[in-house]
Amino acid sequence: MLQYVNVMIDGAPVRAEKGTSVLDTAIHYGICIPHLCHIPGIHDMGACRLCIVEEVKNGRSKVTASCTLLVEDGMVIKSNTDKILKMRKNIAELLVAQAPNSKAIQDVAVRCGVKDVRYPFRNENCVLCGRCVRICKERAKANALGFIGRGKDRHVDHPPGRLMDYCKNCNGCIMFCPMSVTPCGGPMKKGQERLCGQCDSQLNADAQKMPGVCVWCELGKGFQCSRYLAV
Ligand code: SF4
Ligand code: SF4
Ligand code: FES
Repeated sequence: MLQYVNVMIDGAPVRAEKGTSVLDTAIHYGICIPHLCHIPGIHDMGACRLCIVEEVKNGRSKVTASCTLLVEDGMVIKSNTDKILKMRKNIAELLVAQAPNSKAIQDVAVRCGVKDVRYPFRNENCVLCGRCVRICKERAKANALGFIGRGKDRHVDHPPGRLMDYCKNCNGCIMFCPMSVTPCGGPMKKGQERLCGQCDSQLNADAQKMPGVCVWCELGKGFQCSRYLAV
C-alpha cells in the first residue's frame, strides 16, 4: 500500500509519496527547482548541484541537493530563498563557463538569472553529470560506460574490462547528454565563447519575476527539465 507524507515546500503544504525525492515532489506541484543531472525514474547522483534547497530543521537550515533528498513527514523545504537563488546562479554561471557549447546549460543559466559570466570559459565537452552512465546502466541495461580517473582526470569512457561490445547502440547516452545540442548559433569557437540569451528563447519578463514557479518555459526543453521528460 502506498504511504504518503506531508511536506511544506516554499510555504505550500503538499502531500508526497514516501520514497519520492523533494525535487520530484516540487516539480509535480509546479514549483521550479532548476536541475540538470536528474532524469525521472533514474537514480540520482547529485552531480550538478543546481537543485539545491534549504532544509529547515529545529530552527537551523542546511543546504542540500533536492534530487537526492527523500521526503519525510513534517519536512520544511525552502527552494527559492535569496541565499539559494544566489548560490544556484553561481553554480549555473560556473557550468556555462565550463561548457558554453551546450544549449541545455546556456538555457539553465538563463533560468537561473545569469546575466554575465565572470569565470574564464573552458569550453569542455563534458560536465560529468553522469546522465549517460546512468541511462546506459539503468535504461539500456548495458553498463558500457563509467567514470574513470579522479580529480581533473575524471572522465566518462568504457571502463577497463567492460568492452565496447557491451554497447547496444541505443543512442541513449547521446540523447540524454546535455552537450548533445549546441546553442542556436552553432558551436562557439575557442576564444569567442559567450553567454547566449539574445534570442527569443529568453524567459519573458513575467517568468523572470517568478523564479520559484514552473511557467513551462520553453527553456525547460533545452535544459531537459524533467517536467518535459515526465509527460
Ligand atoms: S549507445 Fe551504448 S553506451 Fe550509449 S547508452 Fe546505449 S548501450 Fe550505453
Ligand atoms: S558525456 Fe554528457 S551525459 Fe555524460 S557525463 Fe558528460 S556531460 Fe554528462
Ligand atoms: S544535483 Fe540534483 S539535479 Fe543535479
